[in-house]
Amino acid sequence: MKLGLIGCGKMGAALLNGILKADPTISATIYNRTEAKATALASSLENASVAPDLATVVKESEVIIVSVKPYDLGAALSSELDWSGKLLISVAAGVTSESLLQMTQARVLRVMPNTPSLIGQGASAYCLGALATEEDAVMAERLLQSVGQVVRVEEKLMDAVTGVSGSGPAYVYTMIEAMSDAGVKMGLPRTVALQLATQTLKGAAMMVEESGLHPGELKDQVTSPGGTTIAGIAALEEHGVRNALIKAVEAATIRSAELG
Ligand SMILES: NC(=O)c1ccc[n+]([C@@H]2O[C@H](COP(=O)([O-])OP(=O)(O)OC[C@H]3O[C@@H](n4cnc5c(N)ncnc54)[C@H](OP(=O)(O)O)[C@@H]3O)[C@@H](O)[C@H]2O)c1
Repeated sequence: MKLGLIGCGKMGAALLNGILKADPTISATIYNRTEAKATALASSLENASVAPDLATVVKESEVIIVSVKPYDLGAALSSELDWSGKLLISVAAGVTSESLLQMTQARVLRVMPNTPSLIGQGASAYCLGALATEEDAVMAERLLQSVGQVVRVEEKLMDAVTGVSGSGPAYVYTMIEAMSDAGVKMGLPRTVALQLATQTLKGAAMMVEESGLHPGELKDQVTSPGGTTIAGIAALEEHGVRNALIKAVEAATIRSAELG
């Protein structure tokens, strides 16, 4: 399959890396406004070559990922390009499939990835634009799975996706930092506290995933009567941690809708 990439920044490079490493039958033609970035990315990969211009990427590819900032989309999806018969996958935050369709008349698929995609641990959600087909959905899932997990949602839920998984890594970084600070306050060296906090969040997330149990059930399993953990949980509840997280997701969702 012939893949195109427009925009070789952080997210574009992460996606291309994951996709080409997962499937050697895919070859890519890539383009970046500042050519050096595209050249560096292509030289680190087996099946990627740099295109001289946007038109070449679109002409030579069946599926084109566009990974530029939302305000650069107008230039990157210039109306002079011929998008007929192409599948366009956009990762631009907040830009609707309808706007992308108006800009290109292509079959469009809109994706919200998150930063752990950079290390193959992403959580992406996507929705189909008006002209996209079920085969396009299968193709997109195959590509996105190479940088993590992927779910399909209705487009009206993309702001909620931004609230949970798009902005979510920052909530988790804040939790890790706060738990590390607390460890230091209680006497642990900083490096030890940070290592323990990081692995605890990672391990607990994997317990949820691998056990298939409800997180509340897992919490019940580790809270013995009159013990240390229930004392910690009571303090979390007293300070409204659960409500703070709900409000964080809600605020980010509302802000995403405002920006869109
Ligand atoms: N990073 C994330 O965690 C994340 C998460 C979700 C969604 N996204 C979305 O992913 C998209 C890219 O984000 P990013 O973090 O990867 O940004 P980035 O690192 O700034 O990369 C954007 C790239 O697009 C290039 N570009 C701009 N206009 C272009 C044009 N007309 N033709 C070709 N290339 C062009 C830029 O080139 P120059 O080198 O010339 O600047 C830059 O290399 C954004 O729309 C963002 O909303 C990112």
